[in-house]
Amino acid sequence: MDKPKVVLGVSGGIAAYKACELLRRLTESGHDVRVVPTASALHFVGAATWSALSGHPVSTEVWDDVHEVPHVRIGQGADLVVVAPATADMLAKAAHGLADDLLTNTLLTARCPVVFAPAMHTEMWEHPATQENVATLRRRGAVVIEPAVGRLTGVDTGKGRLPDPVEIFEVCRRVLARGVTEPDLKGRHVVVSAGGTREPLDPVRFLGNRSSGKQGYALARTAAARGARVTLLAANTGLPDPAGVDVVQVETAVQLREAVLKAAADADAVVMAAAVADFRPAEYATGKIKKKDDKDPEPVVLVRNPDILAEVSADRARPGQVVVGFAAETDDVLANGRTKLVRKGCDLLVVNEVGERKTFGSEENEAVVLGADGSETTVPYGPKEALAETVWDLVAQRLA
Ligand code: CTP
Repeated sequence: MDKPKVVLGVSGGIAAYKACELLRRLTESGHDVRVVPTASALHFVGAATWSALSGHPVSTEVWDDVHEVPHVRIGQGADLVVVAPATADMLAKAAHGLADDLLTNTLLTARCPVVFAPAMHTEMWEHPATQENVATLRRRGAVVIEPAVGRLTGVDTGKGRLPDPVEIFEVCRRVLARGVTEPDLKGRHVVVSAGGTREPLDPVRFLGNRSSGKQGYALARTAAARGARVTLLAANTGLPDPAGVDVVQVETAVQLREAVLKAAADADAVVMAAAVADFRPAEYATGKIKKKDDKDPEPVVLVRNPDILAEVSADRARPGQVVVGFAAETDDVLANGRTKLVRKGCDLLVVNEVGERKTFGSEENEAVVLGADGSETTVPYGPKEALAETVWDLVAQRLA
């Protein structure tokens, strides 16, 4: 099978260097990538870098290699065009159909999905001209990723940072797999918990678990792509924030409970993908616990943590709120899952078997989604995104 053809457009912003990482991810995951920088992008990263990383020649103008008509061919042959970073100027040109260099020509000839990852100063992003251009591009079916909030060039901070290249890559992967889909969760607020809680014993030690947070992040990312407002409660994940998602960091089960109850107050759906510690040390030592010569260690006394999923399920913050739990099991997977679904009182329970390649830390997963209505949806082994999409399909059905 031919490799999917991706055009990576790079416009002239300081974040151009981050597009090198996006390019590397795209090529390493089996995409044929043609880089089309603007002339100003080359002030930040030179043609030699793009050419070496992509394995293709690089040009910015329509006058290079004219016999191959690249200004038409590159766009026509693409399966996806992604512009990262997209400056305010580039968004304006794209919205107005200007074609004064190779990238803008490519955008006009492309008939495939187009993704823009904007990066600019907050004032430029918020300016009505930029906002109208973004609205125009979205109305025409382009995917415009929300910029991240954080440190900008110099001392400024605010909204306008290029999202992490990993996140742009995930958006590209999704669009290539599913095309630009209807935003069926538009107007919905969804809450997702991810990662694993840590229950501190002393200032340097904790009880924790192996959850990486990748499944929860996949859920957050896909819900945002489907138009939802997403609150992601992240417990000790160390993963970059998904584009366009509100992220709240928590550490312990008690903190997670507080954050879930607060966010769930106006949520249409709550998905508990986090691995929550069932117990925490009864006492927290404010100083480091030292070993004492010739003495056995003191036993660690544990107390129960609140069951957040059961609580949210029993006390729905609003009628029709859909609550989803996760269960990782090693034995009698489905029977244990059914019992847990009833015990927790949720609408859906995603049951997966803990195994060598599956679940913790891996990029893939397989699961059965059990419904309180008796339904069973099998999701075959595949990327965590695919499982996430199935969960949202089932949630969307229940919200409809
Ligand atoms: N969960 C929770 N609060 C807890 C423990 C778990 O909200 N204190 C949620 C998890 O986020 C997950 C689901 O409950 O969605 C199932 O977690 P699991 O650890 O499998 O459930 P337990 O009640 O711990 O079941 P058991 O220990 O019997 O397997």
